[in-house]
Amino acid sequence: MEVRVMENTFEISKAVSSIIIDEVKRNPKAVLGFATGASPIETYKRMIEAYENGEVSFKSITTFNLDEYCGLTRDDENSYFRFMKENLFGKTDIDFSRVNFLSGDETESEKSCREYSEKIAAAGGIDIQLLGIGTNGHIGFNEPSDSFSDGPFKVKLTQSTINSNSKYFKDKKMPGYALTMGIGDIMRAKKILLIATGESKANAVFKMIKGEVTPSCPASVLQNHSNAVIYLDRESAKLL
Ligand code: PGA
Repeated sequence: MEVRVMENTFEISKAVSSIIIDEVKRNPKAVLGFATGASPIETYKRMIEAYENGEVSFKSITTFNLDEYCGLTRDDENSYFRFMKENLFGKTDIDFSRVNFLSGDETESEKSCREYSEKIAAAGGIDIQLLGIGTNGHIGFNEPSDSFSDGPFKVKLTQSTINSNSKYFKDKKMPGYALTMGIGDIMRAKKILLIATGESKANAVFKMIKGEVTPSCPASVLQNHSNAVIYLDRESAKLL
């Protein structure tokens, strides 16, 4: 695990987006794992700029997103599919037929979990997986628990996650469950880039980097990945 402390979110977004863009230039059919939330938004903006400038095309990439809320349709204003459409996919030439998502629709969720790891393997594995980290140390929606998961599963969200994400749900209650890629799926990615900014992440960042590898801080498992780079600003790095 490599740790890079940068001046601010903008510097992080330039560094992370340029790694992704270089990968796609080198391999137009790259398989990219994407994350939602506040952490990757600036990186997505730099990717959109690069597309608009004609520097890169995303039309042949395949994507897998980390997680989705249970009970929300794809087009719900709070779904992560919608988030990706608005913050990246819809603003580039990404081909939606190669966009993969776990399905929040209750009638499809079990099947989509069962098939997701196989789909990732069939695509040749994830070349670059982008991650954020929760204040409780979660990655994707792998909440603190007694054991590390392997494949995708349905998870009961913790109060800490509900407290962090409820602000995005204006008119309705936030779902209490989500589907997430497992720790095994994340760890099989060839390269991992994790972004954490702000003081609220400092404790989780400390445990991820300096603590023991334990499922009670799921992100700590990244210590065992041979090609994981953690991008921090000064606030999130302040306890290191
Ligand atoms: P955030 O969430 O990027 O919105 O802070 C990260 C996460 O919960 O994994």
